[in-house]
Amino acid sequence: MKVEQAVNIEDLRRMCQRRLPRIAYDYIEGSVDDERGMVTNQAGFLRYRLLPRYLVDVGKRDQSVTLFGKTYSSPFGFGPTGTMGLFRRGSELMLAKAAREANIPYVMSGASNASIEAAARIAPDHLWYQLYSASNQSICADLLRRANDAGVKVLMVTVDVPVRTRRERNIRNGFNFQHKLKPSIVAEALMHPAWVIEYLRNGGAPMLDNWAPYAKPGANAMEVAQFFNSEVPAPAQTWRELETFRKLWPGTLVVKGIMRPEDAERAVAAGADGILVSNHGGRQLDRAPAPIDMFPAIDAAVGDKTTLMLDSGIRRGSDIITSLCVGAKFTFLGRAGLYGVSAGGEAGARRVIEILRTELDLNMGQMGCPTVADLGPDCLWTERDLAPVVRRPAV
Ligand SMILES: Cc1cc2nc3c(=O)[nH]c(=O)nc-3n(C[C@H](O)[C@H](O)[C@H](O)COP(=O)(O)O)c2cc1C
Repeated sequence: MKVEQAVNIEDLRRMCQRRLPRIAYDYIEGSVDDERGMVTNQAGFLRYRLLPRYLVDVGKRDQSVTLFGKTYSSPFGFGPTGTMGLFRRGSELMLAKAAREANIPYVMSGASNASIEAAARIAPDHLWYQLYSASNQSICADLLRRANDAGVKVLMVTVDVPVRTRRERNIRNGFNFQHKLKPSIVAEALMHPAWVIEYLRNGGAPMLDNWAPYAKPGANAMEVAQFFNSEVPAPAQTWRELETFRKLWPGTLVVKGIMRPEDAERAVAAGADGILVSNHGGRQLDRAPAPIDMFPAIDAAVGDKTTLMLDSGIRRGSDIITSLCVGAKFTFLGRAGLYGVSAGGEAGARRVIEILRTELDLNMGQMGCPTVADLGPDCLWTERDLAPVVRRPAV
């Protein structure tokens, strides 16, 4: 099956799973502990129903959104996802290209394989950069300098990785590559020959290009990855580092991973221009609530002072619509983008955008909301809104 034939994101997930060896697919799909986080995120969206309004002229529909002074053609972008070269060589640049062509943002991960400079050449006006705080703060300062020199306008600082998590699938699979891979894992990988050939043809493990200049001279991909792991997560990251990044970064600053209203207030006080309410797709704290469930309280605290966005669990246009109705200005995809690009490269990245765009468009039409501005809390229904059944006397 070709990616063009994928009907929905779930089709792309299945295609991604077929193409990748288990060790790589499990890194994308897996979360921590019992992996309840993804279920929680999905359940959060499903608590809401979308209320249609009929006999409205929806002949022309427009899903564009203006965010930080730039108009994007859809209210979603590709969020940051690390080590993507493992899933398909060059996949970050493929997402960047698809994002540019579709006029949506692409956020390069702080653990990317491609470099900021390479992505900026491909998508100069659509590239954002995500930063992880490092133990050696001068590396962060240099990454910010490079992102700014490359023309990046929006920086996303991720705050929800204070410690490395224990992802049980990765432990079982030996994902960290520090131990010898079990024969069963190697045998399973050999059943995905297209991936194996590409991996070997490109010289094995992909390099973290942004980090290579800070590791010891001549370090290979594994040594650079080990160096990155020794720096990130920074064990003692606090608000002080965020304030430093604010001072260093001349452009727009978004804080990713905020889940509490008081943290949102503090981020705004520290100079954040935007907040991405996120639980990292359930990959950090398994029992965390869904971002969609925390959103109203955060919105009440800071919604009039900053730009609020949302990610985690988005697989359908209706998830995006629900997020916008709750009050999010914009949304980001994590795994959905990875499924597409891993399954089918550039065409797969394009297919993700097409699918979600079409779903958004049709849902907006069905709901009598021709523009994103028409989507609001009045379009949502939950079981709390159940009206009592009235018993009428027989006539
Ligand atoms: C394989 C993978 C790698 C990720 N790497 C990063 C990263 O480097 N930086 C970051 O801020 N978030 C990272 N994330 C989290 C995503 O940006 C996003 O918050 C999350 O995937 C959203 O949930 P979803 O996958 O259900 O859409 C990663 C997620 C996945 C699945």
